[in-house]
Amino acid sequence: MPKLTYYGHDAFLIETERHRIAIDPFITGNPFAAVQPEDLKVDYVLITHGHGDHLGDGLEIAKQCGATVISTFELAGYCQRQGAKAHPMHIGGAHDFDFGRVKLTIAHHGNTVETPSGFLSLGPPCGLLVFADGRTLYHAGDTGLFLDMQLIGEMHPIDVALLPIGDNFTMGIDDAVKAVELLRPKLAVPMHYNTFDLIKADPSEFVSKVQSAGRNAAILRVGETMTY
Ligand code: NI
Ligand code: MN
Repeated sequence: MPKLTYYGHDAFLIETERHRIAIDPFITGNPFAAVQPEDLKVDYVLITHGHGDHLGDGLEIAKQCGATVISTFELAGYCQRQGAKAHPMHIGGAHDFDFGRVKLTIAHHGNTVETPSGFLSLGPPCGLLVFADGRTLYHAGDTGLFLDMQLIGEMHPIDVALLPIGDNFTMGIDDAVKAVELLRPKLAVPMHYNTFDLIKADPSEFVSKVQSAGRNAAILRVGETMTY
């Protein structure tokens, strides 16, 4: 069974039988991350979009480890131009890697990177479905609620769904509870909260509302590892 470790915000590490995969490794500037970017030895870096709190240290980690960045065509291309190995995909597309399969989903949000000459727009952002060791994980990225979550959950029974709850830039708690209803995962885990003042939210409120709706949710503490 794969292991999932939380580094705060939207940053996670998946460990499969033979591979290590970072998702949105925002470490530098992340007040919760109790790890150094150079300690994250990974084979792949999955990125949902180019905002600083998601691309984060992804480029540096990928270059240090010789890891492959997996993201949208535009963001993968950006990472390649910055000297990282990258595998471009796009929304609705899936691909088999040596650790398992990745499928990109829609996410309703922006996707820019900040460069010395201003914001560079990189097309749509994405969410991620990661199929590995017989388990399915959904990382929603930054997004508002959307009805197609129902289709995602119906076509790909989800073991664990990582959902933003911090409001302002993404879904807030009530929309994330509705997302759980649409996705029907075995377990929902909140993310993208309390990192900054603008996204203050109480994860235990999310968990109790999900449980009241008859579904399963749990808080993953920063630094905590679970199998799924
Ligand atoms: Ni964002
Ligand atoms: Mn964000």
